[in-house]
Amino acid sequence: MKLNLTLEEVKQKISPLLMPNEVEEALELIQEIRSLKKKKNVVVLGHNYMTPDVYYGVSDFIGDSLGLSKKATEVDADIILFNGVHFMAETASILNPDKKVLIADLNAGCSLAESITGEDVREIKKQYPGIPVVTYINCTAEVKAETDVCCTSANALKIIQNIPSETVIFLPDVYLAKNIQKQTKKKIIPWEKGKCIVHEQYTSEDIMYYRKQFPDLLVIAHPECNTDVTEASDFTGSTSQMADFIRKSTKKNVLLVTECSMADNLRSEFPDKNFIGTCHTCPHMKKITLRKIRDALLYEQYEVKVPPEIAEKARKAILRMFELS
Ligand code: 13P
Ligand code: SF4
Repeated sequence: MKLNLTLEEVKQKISPLLMPNEVEEALELIQEIRSLKKKKNVVVLGHNYMTPDVYYGVSDFIGDSLGLSKKATEVDADIILFNGVHFMAETASILNPDKKVLIADLNAGCSLAESITGEDVREIKKQYPGIPVVTYINCTAEVKAETDVCCTSANALKIIQNIPSETVIFLPDVYLAKNIQKQTKKKIIPWEKGKCIVHEQYTSEDIMYYRKQFPDLLVIAHPECNTDVTEASDFTGSTSQMADFIRKSTKKNVLLVTECSMADNLRSEFPDKNFIGTCHTCPHMKKITLRKIRDALLYEQYEVKVPPEIAEKARKAILRMFELS
């Protein structure tokens, strides 16, 4: 989704969430970042888990992993700054080998991406010869390079259904694999070690606890949650699919079973809804701050580059995802 807010509109969105001195400081940095963007012909992609100052203040496009990776193939800019985690910037770099792709903090990782290596995938392929490997986009370029096709939480089921095989290896998110297994007759072989440190914290008891307090509660979960959590929810989908579902719903009380900034960002879009105040934070996403973004553009740091031989193989797996979905 394209974003083009005036500074006054940004102020309205962030003022209910920050202290007055923080709002002033944020607006100064946003102005500085906006003028650097213009001067250096930069496009900024912002994931749905960015804090509201980053999300509303400096993004040109906002969205989930699928939307932003598609957008990365369309932008006309000298520099792409990815406000998200490292695997997302890496995906943008793989799709744009001739552009400078920056991330404001190289340590913005992901527990799923860290759970598996290229060597692990080679071992699994030896164990299951001939079985296609589908990888969730939350993995390193090295892992993508070993796989047949990528997917995101928005299109995982479609990719599994469209891949011409009745058995599929699915890496690295074990809960996403289990959630898809419930929706397909195909046999999915999961990687047991991959879990999101944010979504694995939710339990179905948490949901029951809030349902008792708000009988008309709308519960929306991300598919990185365990199956007992998604079963206890009313809808499960990618971060952008979650937002779309809320747009269509008339329910007032909403529990978002996902990362904290999602609800903060949606609160200003839906002032009449009551987002229940509970969530878990992704420490990786929270490493991206306005100050670091300003420095990233000022010093053109930190560039995310993938060795060409790995990038070429990883690109095939990502492009196959676009074909199959
Ligand atoms: P989405 O693709 O749904 O935005 O998810 C990315 C992610 O990292 C969720 O934890
Ligand atoms: Fe990775 Fe979970 Fe953070 Fe998403 S929320 S980036 S899956 S650790």
